[in-house]
Amino acid sequence: MTIHIAAQPEDIAETVLLPGDPLRAKGIADKLLTEVTCYNEVRGMLGYTGTYRGKRVSVQGTGMGMPTTAIYAHELIALGAKRLIRVGTCGAYQPHLNIGDVIIAMTASTDSAINQHIFGQKDYAPAAHFPLLLKAVEAAKALGVAVTVGNILSSDSFYNAHSEHWHKWAEYGVLGVEMESSALYTLAAKHQVEALTILTVSDSLVTGKVASAEERQHSFDPMAKIALALV
Ligand code: HPA
Repeated sequence: MTIHIAAQPEDIAETVLLPGDPLRAKGIADKLLTEVTCYNEVRGMLGYTGTYRGKRVSVQGTGMGMPTTAIYAHELIALGAKRLIRVGTCGAYQPHLNIGDVIIAMTASTDSAINQHIFGQKDYAPAAHFPLLLKAVEAAKALGVAVTVGNILSSDSFYNAHSEHWHKWAEYGVLGVEMESSALYTLAAKHQVEALTILTVSDSLVTGKVASAEERQHSFDPMAKIALALV
């Protein structure tokens, strides 16, 4: 039992998928898992444990942004989780990325001060667990899902005050923006657990396109299947 997760260590699997949206956690559990139990409803941040192809897996909503993601990651690690796999959406920064494309985050840059609290003015490079990353790339290939692997930005703001704020990141090859992974990778490194982020492009800063509700609903499956192949 932790402050935000009403579960015992035995309720949580070693591998936990982390969608931002708690209803997406429910969707993954309902659609893709069997023998499902709901272990958390505190604050509506739903968490489930079930079975995928004979293996135990949990799915826990985190909410949006690094503070809330860090709370759930921290408490899941305290409850014994060993492998944290974020499955979420991102905005594309590069012209070759389209709605529905899948990105695997090798590293996560950030505009957040979250790491400055740890490292002062020095830069830390939050990175995915490489064997897990490699496995995800291989799983995507086996599933016939094209993926782009690289650096993403974990931002503290969705609605940025400066409309051109993203160009510098794009110029330096950053693939897209979300709001969680930098803190997740840093925390996982500190506690020596594995972490990886897999993202589906839901909007493009380059073209201004935004996924329709229908596209959002269906585009999530390839990413979830790659993540579940890592269990
Ligand atoms: N910005 C930040 N986070 C996001 C975005 C975005 O455009 N799209 C999906 N997550």
